[in-house]
Amino acid sequence: MNVIETSKLSKFYGKERGIENLDMQVNEGEIFGFIGPNGAGKSTTIRTILSIVHPTSGSASIFGKDVTKYGPEIREEIGYLPSEIFYYENMKAIDLLRYSASFYKKPKNHMEHRIQTLAKLLELNLDKKIDDLSFGNRKKVGIIQGLLHEPKLIILDEPTGGLDPLIQQKFFNLIQQENKRGASVLFSSHILGEVQRLCDRVGIIKEGKMIKVEKISDLLEKSTKRFKLTTKGKADKAVLLNITGISELVYNGNDINFLFRGHLRDITKAIAKLDLVNLDVNEPDLEEIFLHYYR
Ligand SMILES: Nc1ncnc2c1ncn2[C@@H]1O[C@H](COP(=O)(O)OP(=O)(O)OP(=O)(O)O)[C@@H](O)[C@H]1O
Ligand SMILES: [Mg+2]
Repeated sequence: MNVIETSKLSKFYGKERGIENLDMQVNEGEIFGFIGPNGAGKSTTIRTILSIVHPTSGSASIFGKDVTKYGPEIREEIGYLPSEIFYYENMKAIDLLRYSASFYKKPKNHMEHRIQTLAKLLELNLDKKIDDLSFGNRKKVGIIQGLLHEPKLIILDEPTGGLDPLIQQKFFNLIQQENKRGASVLFSSHILGEVQRLCDRVGIIKEGKMIKVEKISDLLEKSTKRFKLTTKGKADKAVLLNITGISELVYNGNDINFLFRGHLRDITKAIAKLDLVNLDVNEPDLEEIFLHYYR
């Protein structure tokens, strides 16, 4: 079953395009990542499927139910972390979280235990006023608030912004654990490394439309390599022209950079003709594979 499904979903803010005819599916049990340039429509998609904003046209369903009709009911089973968090800043973190917990039907002591466990894991001091917390620590409050009721679906809008590397690591482990417990996850990110590490599939959104959806495993199997060469004198351009499998070839004085996908023997033969002083060969990360979508 698809946990999330949209059909020709559009949201315009007046004349301003938020998203347009966006189709997407998130399968039950998967972690789906969502990337795309600023203003592409990631947050709008999330807000529309959560029925925080009303779609201009098209439809979205979660757990098979139309989001505009069953919003409140659906939201009980969802954990949501917005990209920008606004809080009752005068409250202590623990009071805010207990207040949030009181909206769910689960037993109080169970919720209390969950809050304490998550706070310990993320190293958050619950006794501080929200106002006195740093940006990253406020983000942790948002994360706990999103996860405390053990939701079936977790939707995170740029979750790791502001978290230090150690906490990011713990956060990733937490999301993986939640996924193992059975939660499906949708999250938006600009950090392709985290998408690569966490997701089963990734969707690229551009100018309000979902332009591509790929399995991460497929992406990484396409064994493209990034070559960085430095030659002694000025690089001889002719050597690498007309070799199939080369893309994004850039000459810059003594440096040559390109991506290569094909038989290594073809490329090593060509490179052998150059007077090399350095050679660096890498698997490109998702960033390199995806950067052209951003252009
Ligand atoms: N409340 C609003 N009023 C008017 N226009 C809006 C509003 N919210 C979003 N937009 C517009 O909708 C488009 C999509 O914005 P959205 O916030 O969904 O992008 P995003 O992909 O989340 O970007 P970012 O990576 O910067 O978070 C943008 O052109 C934006 O200006
Ligand atoms: Mg956004």
